Amino acid sequence: MNVLVTGSSGMLGTELCRRIQRDGHTVAGADVNCAPDDPAGAVDIRDFTALSRFAADTRPDMIFHLAAETNVDLCEQNPDHAFQTNALGTEHVALCAQKLDVPLVYISTAAVFDGSKSEAYTEYDAPNPINVYGRSKLAGEEAVGRLLRRYFIFRAGWMVGGWEIDKKFVYKIVQQILDGKREIQAVDDKFGSPTFTDDFVRNMMPIVQSGRFGLYHLCGKGCASRYEIARQIVKDMDAGLDVNVAPVPSSAFPLPAPRPRMEALRNHKLDLLGMNQMQSWRDNLRRYIVENLKHTHPVSDSVAARTC
Ligand SMILES: NC(=O)c1ccc[n+]([C@@H]2O[C@H](COP(=O)([O-])OP(=O)(O)OC[C@H]3O[C@@H](n4cnc5c(N)ncnc54)[C@H](OP(=O)(O)O)[C@@H]3O)[C@@H](O)[C@H]2O)c1
Repeated sequence: MNVLVTGSSGMLGTELCRRIQRDGHTVAGADVNCAPDDPAGAVDIRDFTALSRFAADTRPDMIFHLAAETNVDLCEQNPDHAFQTNALGTEHVALCAQKLDVPLVYISTAAVFDGSKSEAYTEYDAPNPINVYGRSKLAGEEAVGRLLRRYFIFRAGWMVGGWEIDKKFVYKIVQQILDGKREIQAVDDKFGSPTFTDDFVRNMMPIVQSGRFGLYHLCGKGCASRYEIARQIVKDMDAGLDVNVAPVPSSAFPLPAPRPRMEALRNHKLDLLGMNQMQSWRDNLRRYIVENLKHTHPVSDSVAARTC
């Protein structure tokens, strides 16, 4: 099978391409800023002509659409850029899938919800995004649903993966501790579902192969605040009692884009179908930290033993 992956050089794209190739399929990656040694084709999804040409040349049997402007604050500061990439860009990819008559897999986000719920959101809750990123990703979902019959939309939680290419929270905290920081502040009034890229891809593929099209929530088991995640990181790094994690309100870190209070998702449809095999975020975090530290930094025997 030939598979086209947009956003192939990103955090999730790297893991997905690795998995597709391991399964014996051919990947044509497309990304906007490719390094010279990147096997991906340099394609900007905002350029419909270039994207259509690339899609026609690669003749995919299926398209995975991951490319997005994922910088939530940049989206807030430049809404036109956000909508051009996440809404129009997604419409372009969906039009290519329509023309080639192939299924599309679109990765979306918990940011489509307003966060006012006190528990995790299910597929049956109504979206109502409160920031530009969420609105532009929801517009992408709507374009996919409007233009295609055969599609999957997977909403992921807070993504973790790829270690050095992980631009998000976990790697930043690990790096601070490795740099010798002993006082860490982490927000305790925002909640999400940490979702590890390898767990996500491993669980997404059987659903895609089942041909049971539609919208799914796919995130790690459990809900956590940034503070709880930071505390777990310290524990898993075995950094000792001298690293203190202090809970702070999100007002301590003023940011351009408002964040929903609750971004946790429940994989409700997969629960109902008996197909929810996603792992707990704590188990995944421990494995992620120990596996990656082992390659870059020596870890103590006690940490290594905990992954066995
Ligand atoms: N990260 C999360 O916490 C999270 C959570 C839920 C859902 N998601 C969704 O999951 C998908 C993958 O996210 P990720 O975490 O892997 O993000 P990522 O690392 O930022 O990957 C996205 C990739 O898309 C590329 N891209 C941006 N604009 C493009 C354009 N116009 N044309 C072609 N490629 C473009 C990016 O390139 P540059 O880096 O050069 O811009 C990047 O390589 C996204 O659709 C995102 O909305 C992410």
